[in-house]
Amino acid sequence: MRTVATLFAFAASALALQVTQPTNATGWSTSGSNTVAWNAVSTDPSNFTVVLVNMNEFPNYSQILDALVVTSLDKQSVNPPSSGWPTGHGFQINLVADNEHLSTILAQSEQFSFIAPSGSSSGVSSTPASSASGATMTVPASSQ
Ligand SMILES: *[C@@H]1O[C@H](CO)[C@@H](O)[C@H](O)[C@H]1NC(C)=O
Ligand SMILES: *[C@@H]1O[C@H](CO)[C@@H](O)[C@H](O)[C@H]1NC(C)=O
Ligand SMILES: *[C@@H]1O[C@H](CO)[C@@H](O)[C@H](O)[C@H]1NC(C)=O
Repeated sequence: MRTVATLFAFAASALALQVTQPTNATGWSTSGSNTVAWNAVSTDPSNFTVVLVNMNEFPNYSQILDALVVTSLDKQSVNPPSSGWPTGHGFQINLVADNEHLSTILAQSEQFSFIAPSGSSSGVSSTPASSASGATMTVPASSQ
């Protein structure tokens, strides 16, 4: 007797944390809270910190949105920073280990834009996809 069960044995551990929301296609709203969603496997850390970055801006934008997010929740609603949501293109969500290790990136979203919710300018222009791999983020000292 043959079995194909072994085919599935290796698949389970192959993928780690992956950001499924926001995507380049959906973007985020400049109004109200936005949702971060992810897929995880049992070997991922039990919590992480959500950081909004834009490596295409000078200086690079970096803002912690939520810390100690519980991995098993699969998604989390995040509120705007005290200064409000930024505008523009080329933003990414980084899931990082914790507040102290913002450059330890566990997963990264696609580049996306902030989009105004109602009828204002829909100027979604193209953003060059610059590779940010291996970059070390410099974050202005904040309260954390
Ligand atoms: C957060 O995750 C880290 C790494 O998995 C773990 O050591 C720590 O205990 C967790 N903290 C909380 C509050 O769950
Ligand atoms: C912004 O990020 C890019 C890409 O990682 C990097 O080359 C550049 O030096 C950064 N600029 C600043 C001001 O941090
Ligand atoms: C994101 O979408 C815009 C169009 O909305 C496109 O021009 C851009 O190349 C996309 N970026 C990535 C990284 O896919």
